[in-house]
Amino acid sequence: MTPFLSLLSSFCLAVSVFSSISLAAPTLLFQGFNWESSNKQGGWYNSLLPLIPELASAGITHVWLPPPSQSVAPQGYMPGRLYDLNTSKYGTQTELQTLIKSFHDNNIKCIADIVINHRTAEKQDSRGIWCIFEGGTPDDRLDWGPSFICKDDTQYSDGTGNLDTGMDFEPAPDMDHLNPRVQTELSDWMNWLRSEIGFDGWRLDFAKGYSPGIMKIYMDKTAPGFAVGEVWDSLDYGSDGKPVYNQDPHRNNLVKWVSGAGGGVLRAFDFTTKGVLQAAVEGELWRLKDPNGNPPGLIGVLPGNAVTFIDNHDTGSTQKLWPFPSDKVMLGYAYILTHPGIPSVFYDHFFDWGLKDQIAKLTSIRARNGISETSKVQIMASDSDLHVAMVDNKIIVKIGPKLDLGNLIPPEYHVSTSGNDYAVWEK
Ligand SMILES: *[C@@H]1O[C@H](CO)[C@@H](O)[C@H](O)[C@H]1NC(C)=O
Repeated sequence: MTPFLSLLSSFCLAVSVFSSISLAAPTLLFQGFNWESSNKQGGWYNSLLPLIPELASAGITHVWLPPPSQSVAPQGYMPGRLYDLNTSKYGTQTELQTLIKSFHDNNIKCIADIVINHRTAEKQDSRGIWCIFEGGTPDDRLDWGPSFICKDDTQYSDGTGNLDTGMDFEPAPDMDHLNPRVQTELSDWMNWLRSEIGFDGWRLDFAKGYSPGIMKIYMDKTAPGFAVGEVWDSLDYGSDGKPVYNQDPHRNNLVKWVSGAGGGVLRAFDFTTKGVLQAAVEGELWRLKDPNGNPPGLIGVLPGNAVTFIDNHDTGSTQKLWPFPSDKVMLGYAYILTHPGIPSVFYDHFFDWGLKDQIAKLTSIRARNGISETSKVQIMASDSDLHVAMVDNKIIVKIGPKLDLGNLIPPEYHVSTSGNDYAVWEK
């Protein structure tokens, strides 16, 4: 190689290293609502507007917004007229579009909560059954009848549809996703949410309600920039009420779901990490190392397709269906914000619990060190009272009450942030 070429190539190398560093803002999801948001005076969409700059400076790249359509339940999870975004308890279509534009102006992408497993009907048929659906447009888009309901949803169906490909959702009719018109019209609606409303991707509600193969059809027809599915299995619990140590069947279900649905930009919420982590922080931190020496959740086997979280509108908020121990929430964030997977931050923790400064310190460490969804974890200590891991040979995180770490932390590392029972070091 001539000196000129070698100079040129090292220049190119320098440029590409520089640009990969400057472009590598780690993907960070923010759940932008909770179970009470639909009650907000003045409207939830409007209330988020002034918070956007703070989210942007905390490094948030994606915000998950609540289901936008007309719904029988105020939170949006019993939708009916899917094209009607004006009667949502969160605000009007115009307010939503203004909100999304403002997120975009701050380089934050917007994720729509897609509830398509089931749908509530607008009217009763001649039998008195609630099974006549309306789309919310003047034409007949999404105007369906009982033949569009899974035939095993016998309460509503006329028996002419296909069998459900997934779990039944008890409170509302389950849609027959094997019906080509269902596939086409729901995909058209999702594409309208992108082109007309401005959404960039999807959070798929109750994804166990239809098969991964069906999920793949919607992914292919809508080509989102980002998508994450809610595949919520409870962990197996031992007689002591704690999750059994071998989490593999649990996380392997998530792996199977992701690959069955095509993978790629599609992720699954890492319910395995959530369950194991919240047991581990109660004096059982040894749970955070699997038999292969890796993290025990989905992030230990398929980190690029895992979205980690501490709590959401179901598990936490006012429902508290499966809450993280409230006094250990920052240990949870210290873990997920330093580990692989795409971490998500819950509105309540960031704003209502006053944790935004502590969380933002962790997100800035993540960004500064280019920690990504596929970063490498090396577990340095795994005891009941101590979990220490080095990530990408760049940062070290400690969670747990143990204070004396001996000489575990190499001398070239210095503490960047710390709090009650956690600390993070950088080189
Ligand atoms: C909702 O309101 C917007 C703005 O006023 C309007 O363009 C749209 O057609 C309305 N949608 C429905 C379903 O009424």
